[in-house]
Amino acid sequence: MKHAVRYFSKSGNTEKAARAIAGAPAVEAISINAAGAAIIEKTAVLFLGAAVYAFGLDDAVKTFIEKLDAAKTGKGAAFGTTARVKPAVNEKTPDSRRRSSNLPVDRAILAPVLAS
Ligand SMILES: Cc1cc2nc3c(=O)[nH]c(=O)nc-3n(C[C@H](O)[C@H](O)[C@H](O)COP(=O)(O)O)c2cc1C
Repeated sequence: MKHAVRYFSKSGNTEKAARAIAGAPAVEAISINAAGAAIIEKTAVLFLGAAVYAFGLDDAVKTFIEKLDAAKTGKGAAFGTTARVKPAVNEKTPDSRRRSSNLPVDRAILAPVLAS
């Protein structure tokens, strides 16, 4: 089963999350700005990451989504990072005291997606 990880990241937080996610299904995390980012092979699960900028997604992310070929892309799993004061995962671990620039990433949150 082929997985793909794509992301859009201006300052590296979402890229860090994407690389951790890519390590679970062992694929390469590719920026949507990179050549070869388009999903051209049949993909079971596309993990797509993007940060929140000015209360929304960057237009580059919206364009990437609009150009996805439904025949090539199976399930989608969205992830992202924000400037939220408390992290979205691992609230009870020491990692939760980290700032968003040092975001904790818990691969366990991916288990249900990867198992499906
Ligand atoms: C110009 C700009 C606008 C932002 N706007 C928001 C926002 O509206 N809401 C929010 O929660 N975080 C906002 N943030 C914080 C980013 O979502 C957060 O730092 C994110 O982790 C950046 O991801 P990246 O390093 O992958 O680019 C903004 C950051 C920047 C630089």
